[in-house]
Amino acid sequence: TSHKVGYFVGSLSSTSINRLLAKALVRLAPPGLHFVEIPIKDLPLYSADYDVDYPPVARTFKQTIADCDALLFVTPEYNRSIPGGLKNAIDWASRPWGQNSFARKPSGVIGTSPGAIGTAVAQSQLRGVLCFCNSPLMNTVEAYIQFKPGLITPDGEVTDDGTKNFLSNYLVELQGFIARVLTVLPRDA
Ligand code: FNR
Repeated sequence: TSHKVGYFVGSLSSTSINRLLAKALVRLAPPGLHFVEIPIKDLPLYSADYDVDYPPVARTFKQTIADCDALLFVTPEYNRSIPGGLKNAIDWASRPWGQNSFARKPSGVIGTSPGAIGTAVAQSQLRGVLCFCNSPLMNTVEAYIQFKPGLITPDGEVTDDGTKNFLSNYLVELQGFIARVLTVLPRDA
């Protein structure tokens, strides 16, 4: 069987190391795991005023999520939390009330930063948000990637064997987690 994983890159930076990490993950994906990016940069700032009539960009955004079997969050840590742009995207997806795009949708989190804790605090906060949004979250493997210059080439090749093996294993674990969740919570149930 094959699963479609929509991924969010939490950074809007043109030189994002988390985008590089996402590229690396797409390259390392095992057979049967297919990745598609879910862009967040064109969403306006969310307001509940939109709930009566979501704009086309937000409808498309929610439909893209609905079309995926699972989600992966690849995020930096900003000020010991997740970037505002990513939180904004999550808020859009969680609404209108009763149409939460995350409900029963399995997800994983991962991120990289130059600092030694590798986005651990941001990921911890993101887990709290996704837990509230009723997304079954992969608990293990956790992945806190410390980024060193050259770790991932511009086209997504991981230059360090240890990191490459770790990321490959992360993806195999994610694949297994998604398969187990979908067994008990089929997408269209
Ligand atoms: C940072 N950075 C950062 N790093 C970290 O490990 N913990 C933190 O709390 C923060 N806070 C923070 C706030 C803001 C506003 C910026 C711009 C940066 C550094 C951050 O890890 C680094 O800039 C990464 O390159 C960000 O990831 P992307 O955007 O390159 O994917």
